[in-house]
Amino acid sequence: MNKAEIHLTAGTGLEVELLPFGATIRSIRLFGQELTLNYPQSTDYQTDEFYLGATAGRVANRIAKGRFELNGVAYQLDCNNGPNHLHGGVTGFNRQLWQVLKQQPDSVQLYLHSADGDQGYPGALQVWQQFRIVDQQLELSFLALSNKDTVLNLTNHCYFNLNNDGTSIENHQLQLTATHYLPTDEHAIPTGERRAVAGTAFDFSQAKLVGPALKLQDPQLALANGFDHCFIWQGAEAADLKRMALLSSEQSGRQLEVFSTQPGLQLYTGNFLAAPFVSRQGICLEAQGWPDAINQLGFPTTQLKAGELYQQQIVYKFS
Ligand code: BGC
Repeated sequence: MNKAEIHLTAGTGLEVELLPFGATIRSIRLFGQELTLNYPQSTDYQTDEFYLGATAGRVANRIAKGRFELNGVAYQLDCNNGPNHLHGGVTGFNRQLWQVLKQQPDSVQLYLHSADGDQGYPGALQVWQQFRIVDQQLELSFLALSNKDTVLNLTNHCYFNLNNDGTSIENHQLQLTATHYLPTDEHAIPTGERRAVAGTAFDFSQAKLVGPALKLQDPQLALANGFDHCFIWQGAEAADLKRMALLSSEQSGRQLEVFSTQPGLQLYTGNFLAAPFVSRQGICLEAQGWPDAINQLGFPTTQLKAGELYQQQIVYKFS
């Protein structure tokens, strides 16, 4: 069964449209107001270069030079982002057709079989992703199993815009509960440092406007042309379902809270969005593992052992 579009509703005012192509969130509407960026035609997603609403994988974010070593074997993946591998490669999970396994009015389960060697990654991998509406929450649950040791980091890549007048996300207030983030080099690869946000442009511990934060003087902001950085949660609680972010628009009164079991959240302020969109038209709050973790000493592991169950959750709660 592969329908072109999947509509979810629980009769609570939240309506979600999904596409099996890329396990993509095409639309999230709360009482009729659209809250994410989308293309007019579902076929537009086949040529999308912004990962609009898509599931990013096998490994979301970057792997430096597309290289890593696992069990003494060196792997070379495609470099589809300057010198690096981004969001799973040229035909990542965002460009693969997921199967619709089970559909109900308020939930759907999608499935993807990724062959051993897909995009250069080891192991035949099975992925199940469930989308479910509960009250005014959209819950994403990821499960995966590989037949060989591999590396995995799944996330969703929605560009949120909570305004109802089409204006930029610069007027949004953002709060992030992280105390640290990962500074990067000029190619967006973490340097390995875990830097405290306190007293920097990256301090969102109290809700603040995104626009003025983008204008602050900080070499890290200049490097990435805005925010394109992973905020991190450390220690034992990092794996709990925790409240990571609160995004709100005073213009519309809408707000979004992001909860996840993932240890990181990539804040991306739509710096490179281009036609048919414009820069800063959407903001991504991508709960995920830390970028380039497979090559970085001491980062929480993104390795998935053969036969071990990968389990992560992301919850978008609207009001
Ligand atoms: C990355 C950006 C990248 C974008 C692609 C984000 O997750 O952090 O660097 O340009 O995805 O749309």
